Amino acid sequence: MSHKHSIELLNQAVSDELLAVHQYMYFHFHLADQGLRPLASLFKRTAIAEMGHVEALSERILFLKGDVEMVAGGAVGRISDSAAMLQQAMEMEETSARDYNNAALECGKNADAGSKQVFEQLIADEEGHFAEFEKQLENIKRYGPSYLALQSFASASDAGEPASE
Ligand SMILES: [Fe+2]
Ligand SMILES: [Fe+2]
Repeated sequence: MSHKHSIELLNQAVSDELLAVHQYMYFHFHLADQGLRPLASLFKRTAIAEMGHVEALSERILFLKGDVEMVAGGAVGRISDSAAMLQQAMEMEETSARDYNNAALECGKNADAGSKQVFEQLIADEEGHFAEFEKQLENIKRYGPSYLALQSFASASDAGEPASE
């Protein structure tokens, strides 16, 4: 049985995930530079989770005897405002979840339950990422732009020293 179409879908997802890794690392660097540690660290953790997704997709591609095309799906958006970063990240997560839902349906139709399952696991994670970003954006709107700076101050004094992330 040929799984050519599944391999294409899995490689598209790898591109999507690589772009997310780059974008979230870029956000992490900028937020750390602005002294907004908790949000910087959320983006770092999420970038690492997306790297795990690249791994899960790649394992499946190799299992199906394809090869992994390690090409990021686009250039990084040069955004340095925290609310705009969260907005961008939420759009990326929403798009990924929608694309993976379609991919899961396609794989199911082609009797490739293994790939379908990989996509379904990713959907659950992307929905979780979306919810975390949404919560932070809501807090910025609710408490005002100083929310992130105050949160950073609180986390540094809780730890008794500057956080390393
Ligand atoms: Fe992902
Ligand atoms: Fe994600």
